[in-house]
Formats: sequence, C-alpha cells, structure tokens
Amino acid sequence: MNVLVTGGAGFIGSNFVLSMLSKHPSYRIVNVDKLTYAGNLENLREAEGNPRYTFVKADICDRQTMDEVIREHAIEAIVNIAAESHVDRSIVGAAEFVETNVGGTTVLLDAAREFKIKRFLQVSTDEVYGSLGPEGKFTEYTPLHPNSPYAASKAAADLLVLAYQHTHGVPALITRCSNNYGPFQFPEKLIPLMIANALQNKPLPVYGDGLNVRDWLHVADHCAALDAVLHRGKEGTVYNIGGSNEKTNLEVIRLILRQLGKPESLITFVKDRPGHDRRYAIDSSRIQSELGWRPAVTFEEGLSATVRWYLEHRTWWERIISGEYKEYYRKMYEER
Ligand code: NAD
Ligand code: TYD
Repeated sequence: MNVLVTGGAGFIGSNFVLSMLSKHPSYRIVNVDKLTYAGNLENLREAEGNPRYTFVKADICDRQTMDEVIREHAIEAIVNIAAESHVDRSIVGAAEFVETNVGGTTVLLDAAREFKIKRFLQVSTDEVYGSLGPEGKFTEYTPLHPNSPYAASKAAADLLVLAYQHTHGVPALITRCSNNYGPFQFPEKLIPLMIANALQNKPLPVYGDGLNVRDWLHVADHCAALDAVLHRGKEGTVYNIGGSNEKTNLEVIRLILRQLGKPESLITFVKDRPGHDRRYAIDSSRIQSELGWRPAVTFEEGLSATVRWYLEHRTWWERIISGEYKEYYRKMYEER
C-alpha cells in the first residue's frame, strides 16, 4: 500500500512513520509536513535513505500540492496526523488551529474524494469530549463538548470527516486517543517539559492545584492502534484509544523527579490554564473487542523508558530549546 502520512515530522507522526516502515516491509510511506515549530526531521533520521520513504515539505492546506503528491505517489490511504496540537498555544491564538486542523482536513477530504482514496484515517483526540467529573469515562457516544480552541478545531474536523463519509462516501474512520508520551515529544507538553526542566534544575510549572487527571498512553501503543484501525476498522466509525491509566499531573511529576533523583522543591505552582479540563478518561472497549487492540506498555515501564530516552538524547531536546533543530533542515534543503 502507498500511504500518505501528514504531520510525520511531529511527535506521533514520526513514531507512526517509523513503525509503519518497520511493520509493513512492502509499504511506501510519503510524509507531508509543513515543518512548523513542532516538526523536526531529526526524528526521522532512521528513515532517511530508505527507498520506501519520501518526505515532502508542504502544507496540508495547499490543495494543488496535495493533489500532486497523491497523483505522483499513487496514494491509496491517507493518515491525517498533521495539526496544531498544543492547548496553551490555542489559547494565545486560534487562527492557525482553525486553518490547519479544520481547513487542512477539509482539503485532504476533498482530495480523498477526487482521487477515490481507499482509506482516510483522521487522528483525533479525546479532548473533543470536554471534561469529566470524578466518575465515568468517555465512550464514542459521549456528546462532543470541546472546551479549548484546540479541542474545538479537532471536533470541527471530526464532524467534517463524518459528513464526508456520510454524504460523499469517503471511506473515513476516526480515532480519539488520550494523552500520549514517549520519544520525540516536543518539550512544551507536560512530560517532556518536566523532564527537561528537572534536568536543568529549573522550576517545574504546575498549573492550578496539579490535581487534573489525564489518561496516559505510550505512543507505541497509539501507533499500534492506528495501524489496527487503518487496516481493520469499520468505515464511518469512531474508535476511542486509551491506556486506562489515570494519573494526576502531580503524580506524574513526582514519578519523574524520583527517577531523576531531583528534589520535589522544584515543583512550582503557577496560575491555572484558562478553561483547564479537569479530567479525561477513555473507555476503549470498542477497539479492544472489535479489533483486538490492547495497550502493551505499562505506565511505569513506559515512563521510565521515556525518562531514559530524554537522558540519552539530551542533544535532541537541547537543540529544540536553543532553536538549532531548525538549522538542521534549513541546511539540508539548501544543500539539495
Ligand atoms: P505535534 O505538534 O508534535 O506534530 C504536529 C506535526 O504536524 C508537526 O510535524 C507539524 O510540522 C505538522 N503540521 C502542522 N501544521 C501543518 C500543516 N498545515 N501542514 C502540514 N503539516 C503540518 O503533534 P502530536 O502531539 O504528534 O499530535 C499529532 C496528532 O495527534 C494531532 O492531530 C493531535 O490532535 C493528535 N493527538 C495527540 C495527542 C497527544 O497526546 N500528543 C493525543 C491524541 C491525539
Ligand atoms: P499537556 O501536555 O499540555 O496536554 P493536554 O492539555 O492536551 O492534556 O498538559 C497535560 C496536563 O498537564 C494538563 O492538565 C495541563 C498540565 N500542565 C501543567 O501543569 N504544566 C505545564 O507546564 C504543562 C505544559 C501542562
């Protein structure tokens, strides 16, 4: 199969591209990424030179280029991972979130329709459901109630995907996953930010009381779930993906500090995020019963492997913090 992966230079996208190349030795993967601040080709060094892998620097909002890529590479499936993904940035300004997450998805749906793409997988988030109280979990039937501009843009995209499937017969599916962690996660998100700050003996900024709950899933388990839905999911269906692994932010941060041997005095309570969702928890029984997917990585194993990864790849995140990673691909393109 020839698969177009969008946003393949980001955190989940790069993990997905690498896993698809290794799990499916006959597949060709085309990665379209605009290389925003979150896109980093250093994540894909392992794929460079692989004849089954092509990188195209482009914006998913650019219909003409999307058409050219689909035609030139005889694309059969699209996995749309590209997005503006950080809640805090969407609070500062929502325009790019609407452009990429809503506009870009619509461009890809139109292209999928025109080229009769066989599979369109929209990678969405549990944040479209809003916030839970102390009890209950999000099922696929939970009404959409996005609270942040980021979540609202993802919910809008989900509705367009379902509408294109219903109206135009685009063979689309949606996944909604809980919070991911693992290698190559940009150090603006909770886990990598806390690891990087602790390693630099900088304060760890905890929003509000630190008791907000997230349901953490290792990115390798998310990639395995995407693979299962891409190949075996039922068109027009939403699949929730989660780790059944709820932790408060403070619990996560204390585990990180303990593993790094750093003092809890680094924890610094700061002003809460506006509109901060209190709790996310996912009921993933549909994907488990229909597709046989199950998380394989426990949080304890996954978090300690992730902390080790950030320790062993210090230059990777230091180059991000210093902005040097942008130089890497600027030079690479100038030399080509
Ligand atoms: P990320 O910010 O690390 O990566 C996003 C990638 O998309 C970057 O490489 C960026 O350059 C690219 N991109 C952005 N705008 C683009 C555009 N207009 N055209 C082409 N490329 C563009 O994000 P992530 O954490 O890897 O998340 C990826 C997807 O997974 C998002 O759709 C997000 O909603 C979803 N998701 C993330 C999580 C999580 O915990 N990180 C959980 C559930 C779902
Ligand atoms: P984040 O990684 O931004 O993911 P999301 O908001 O999409 O769930 O944040 C995870 C949790 O950590 C969330 O409750 C906000 C909190 N948080 C902090 O307390 N401090 C921080 O510096 C960051 C980035 C997040």
